[in-house]
Amino acid sequence: MEIIVLPTPEESSRIAARLVAKQIRHKPHSVLGLATGSTPLMLYRELIRMHREEGLDFSRVTTFNLDEYVGLSPEHSTSYHRYMQENLFDHINVPEKNTHIPDGLTEDIPIFCEGYEAQIQASGGIDLQVLGIGTDGHVGFNEPTSSLASRTRIKTLTRQTLSDNARFFAGDVEQPHHVLTMGIGTIMESRQVVLLAFGSGKAEAVAASVEGPISSMMPASALQFHPRTHVIIDEPAANKLAKADYYRWVYGNKPDWQQH
Ligand code: F6R
Repeated sequence: MEIIVLPTPEESSRIAARLVAKQIRHKPHSVLGLATGSTPLMLYRELIRMHREEGLDFSRVTTFNLDEYVGLSPEHSTSYHRYMQENLFDHINVPEKNTHIPDGLTEDIPIFCEGYEAQIQASGGIDLQVLGIGTDGHVGFNEPTSSLASRTRIKTLTRQTLSDNARFFAGDVEQPHHVLTMGIGTIMESRQVVLLAFGSGKAEAVAASVEGPISSMMPASALQFHPRTHVIIDEPAANKLAKADYYRWVYGNKPDWQQH
């Protein structure tokens, strides 16, 4: 794992965007795994800027999103379909047919999930997966005790996640308790992972995932087995890491050829 601690979410998102851009420039038909929520918003803004100002070309890119709420239509104001359109897809040149997000309205969940996995395989597998992390250590919506070998399937959100995400469901919009999510096994097969975390609310989950024991109680800890994961976090999210000084020193002394 590479742990990069930077002063602000802006700087962290810029480095993450550079990693994504490098991946796309190196392999124009890259397959990206994408996350939603508050955390990747600045990363997506930076990718849009790179598309507009630096010609970053998404025309051959394929995307697979991690998750979607069960019962929400793609047009629903809080669906992850809508989030992706508004925060990324409407502003870059990725062809619509190349974008994939789990269907929250599917009538046959097991068959749909099997098909989603098959589509990922058929596309050649995910080259770079963007992740946020829940305060309970979930990645995707793989809540504590999710099998570390799990594949795309339906999950029930924990009370903690429901309460963390209640902010997205204003007024009388009902918050779904169920989601379709890629599994930990699915995520672990991606060739590169960029996990972002900002704010002190994420500090405990970050420390437990990076430095704690590998356990399904802390699903992100499975990434300790992943050969190419970059954990890019701001200072508040790093404040429970025992080895934070070491990570800062390593990053500050990276040789030129290793810079992101
Ligand atoms: C979203 C996802 C979740 C979020 C996590 C953090 O697609 O898979 O794991 O990344 O819940 O959410 P935020 O970024 O809103 O704190």
